[in-house]
Amino acid sequence: MSQDIKEKILKLKAEKDVCILAHSYMSEEVCSVADFVGDSYALSVKAKTAPQSTVIMCGVRFMAETVKMLSPQKKVILSNPKAGCAMAEQFDREVIEQVKKLYPDYAVVAYVNTTTELKTVADVCVTSSSAVKICRALPEKNILFIPDINLGTYVKEQVPEKNFKLLSGGCPTHARIEQADVLKVKAEHPNALFLVHPECRPEVVALADYVGSTSGIMDFAEKSDKKEFIIGTENSIVEHLQAKCPDKKFYPLSENLVCGNMRLTTLADVLACLEGTGGEEIVLDEKIRLKAVKCIEKMIELGG
Ligand code: 13P
Ligand code: SF4
Repeated sequence: MSQDIKEKILKLKAEKDVCILAHSYMSEEVCSVADFVGDSYALSVKAKTAPQSTVIMCGVRFMAETVKMLSPQKKVILSNPKAGCAMAEQFDREVIEQVKKLYPDYAVVAYVNTTTELKTVADVCVTSSSAVKICRALPEKNILFIPDINLGTYVKEQVPEKNFKLLSGGCPTHARIEQADVLKVKAEHPNALFLVHPECRPEVVALADYVGSTSGIMDFAEKSDKKEFIIGTENSIVEHLQAKCPDKKFYPLSENLVCGNMRLTTLADVLACLEGTGGEEIVLDEKIRLKAVKCIEKMIELGG
């Protein structure tokens, strides 16, 4: 059945000049029909250069909006319209404008997991793989980092020469993990390296052998000569790594490391987008797009 759907997708995608982008948290099935799979930084860069006139984004809403911001002439479809990101919608633009008034000499650095509206008040965006590099490269000494307090804390530690103000937002999936979860899994697998996403709490990140984005974690594990790894991010990464490296062993940090939004997209959704019966075309107000895209372009310039 899924083989049938897969064949239909590949045929229609070629006929209709469509590029399918998939975030690394997508299922093995969805990744298998994608032209490109990557972390949110790599997807942003890819979105700019993909030659096709239509892009289907298999991920969450802010990722599809980022593609549309960078390629307004393209038709951009979010494969499952219900797929949002719990962190992206945590702060309204008005709240951040009020905070900016308190810290007028701070550059606003926004994690890319934010709404388009919120990006209009940011000076630059960052992703988990580019945040340290970009915060170091910024000419400003003072940084107001929104919305993820965990990523912000990690970046602050890596960039001690700058002053940071953090807000208390974050990813509920990653924040669920406690240090006790890590100690338990480490005790069960004493030879395993612990690889973690910086959206986890600082006391969890402190126990890691490697801290990085979804793609960073995958690259590290694939290239490492070690054989066992505990994966501290969404459990889809455990599945992908196990498929890519059958001679190694990958353990989930917790069975709770599941992002319900990222799990929504199915092969049937992708087919429905191609058949014109599903998905949601992303439409952005042009004035808002023009304001918001500046911080994404600056991210690509500084993070490249
Ligand atoms: P990456 O930047 O690693 O792709 O992470 C995005 C994300 O939503 C992680 O939860
Ligand atoms: Fe958003 Fe967290 Fe899901 Fe990533 S894992 S998409 S940050 S809710």
